[in-house]
Amino acid sequence: MLKIGNIKLEQPFIQSPLSGYSDRAMRTLARQFGCELTFSGVLLAKSACHRPLFNKANYRITDDEHPVGAQILGTEPDVMALAAKTLRDVGYDCICLNYACPAPKVLRRGRGGAMLKTPALAIEIFKRVREAVDCPITVKIRTGFGKASEEQENFWEICEKLIAENIDAITVHPRAVTQAYRGKADWELSAKLKGKFPHATILGSGDLFEAVDVINKLKASGLDGVAIARGAIGAPWIYRQLTDVLDGKIGDEIYSPSVKEQGEIILAHYEMLSKLYYVQKSVKYFRKFLANYCKAHPQRKKVHRELMMANTGDELREIIKEFYGHEDT
Ligand SMILES: Cc1cc2nc3c(=O)[nH]c(=O)nc-3n(C[C@H](O)[C@H](O)[C@H](O)COP(=O)(O)O)c2cc1C
Repeated sequence: MLKIGNIKLEQPFIQSPLSGYSDRAMRTLARQFGCELTFSGVLLAKSACHRPLFNKANYRITDDEHPVGAQILGTEPDVMALAAKTLRDVGYDCICLNYACPAPKVLRRGRGGAMLKTPALAIEIFKRVREAVDCPITVKIRTGFGKASEEQENFWEICEKLIAENIDAITVHPRAVTQAYRGKADWELSAKLKGKFPHATILGSGDLFEAVDVINKLKASGLDGVAIARGAIGAPWIYRQLTDVLDGKIGDEIYSPSVKEQGEIILAHYEMLSKLYYVQKSVKYFRKFLANYCKAHPQRKKVHRELMMANTGDELREIIKEFYGHEDT
């Protein structure tokens, strides 16, 4: 069991926040495949303070979504605290503080990964958010601003202090901020954090694409759980595969959707998006998912080409029917 404050999960995996992806549709699919805790993409704290934002279909939390977490980004403790309170009021069950985002426009304002340069502020924000809400609070953090080992000092300091303040969980993405998504995630560093603070709840993130490998990383590191990110884009079934691997299944026993099932999942995903966005937007927005979905199709290149050409919902449905309609396509 994975415990994040009062949120108790049967399985040791969650869905990592994914800006531009982890909307209600992606979260719903994750849940259907057995992911018990999902997160929406990061929100600027200033924006999250505006309650009317959460009347929009894509931001509204529905009754069947719990538990669901929100993540915020910012440098002002008051604003972060108010944002957390607003998110709690509109129904989110967990607040994650983003100390990891490597986007230059975020770093320029001292936000996200730049928090690794300001440990005192990172802790101050946590304390203020803790005072503002009654739900679990987590932090997503990278292992240093730059790659040099002396740059890791602030990572250790922030983690040590957050743990002393009883943070509910820390999710570590063991790359430096300056690395963005390049190079390999250093899971040994995450394992070292867990080794140093065995009583803290530590989740791992980074290079989690394939179920057997994910569970190997989880077991080898001794961490409490993993946060699946890119590995679930266009492959929401990864959560069911993780459960299968944890249940001891091997090889063909591990769930793998047939082409027809993939088609049904893709269609279900699109139908959810078509309710969240205008048709034109939903088709274009869906392309980044489709580019990954088609990797599991035997005629990957052809399917990719066709799917990318669809401009309307009906065109998309037709193409999906054509390529995914039969078991033997
Ligand atoms: C397109 C994209 C958007 C992301 N958005 C967020 C985000 O909003 N908040 C966050 O903490 N991490 C975000 N991440 C980081 C992921 O949650 C994850 O930590 C990272 O991708 C490493 O895991 P992976 O290699 O298994 O994908 C994002 C990553 C990508 C690729």
